[in-house]
Amino acid sequence: MVGKEHITMTPPAASERWSGVVNGRPVEVLAPSNAVLLDVLRDKVGTLGVKRGCDLGTCGCCTVMIDGVPKLSCLTLAGQVKDTEILTVEGLSEGAHLTPIQTCFATHGGSQCGFCTPGFMIASQALLNVNDNPSRDEIAEAIEGNLCRCTGYQQIIDSIEAAAVLHRGEGEVTSPASDPHPDPHPSGPEDPTMPPGHAK
Ligand code: FES
Ligand code: FES
Repeated sequence: MVGKEHITMTPPAASERWSGVVNGRPVEVLAPSNAVLLDVLRDKVGTLGVKRGCDLGTCGCCTVMIDGVPKLSCLTLAGQVKDTEILTVEGLSEGAHLTPIQTCFATHGGSQCGFCTPGFMIASQALLNVNDNPSRDEIAEAIEGNLCRCTGYQQIIDSIEAAAVLHRGEGEVTSPASDPHPDPHPSGPEDPTMPPGHAK
């Protein structure tokens, strides 16, 4: 009968406790029981460095390390990775200091608009953790799931190759070719000239 039709809505999933160690910090949040990890990390934990590109598993922007293994957070149910150790791009640096992979993306032009960069950095750090002297083919294989619309990949592979040298303790850190905004507080939060209220 007209006016009597209705569509039965699927009730929203109940919220449940989700916990894990994100970038070395224990976190506990409430999230829908069917939430994907990407949403939990961005919306509940606040690690906005994890990027949402395609949401379909094809771009690699959302790559995070889960117990040391790079995974696509858009295809991972949060509930399946409770109480694991998760590393996002925010957790890569060593205190106030950039890791070789971050330094070399800057010095070798591996990042342009930067949207894909967190995913590339996590995928390449995962490679260096198990192989600190990768060939260019091995680098290309490690980042084959990551898409970049800007760099053409050559500079990204150059960046990872250079980072491997620093990661092995060989070579010197060079300055970026252009650095319009040098770090005003190179000593990080310990810098006594740091404005009040900034992160300690
Ligand atoms: S957002 Fe996850 S692969 Fe694109
Ligand atoms: S630097 Fe722009 S998409 Fe990769």
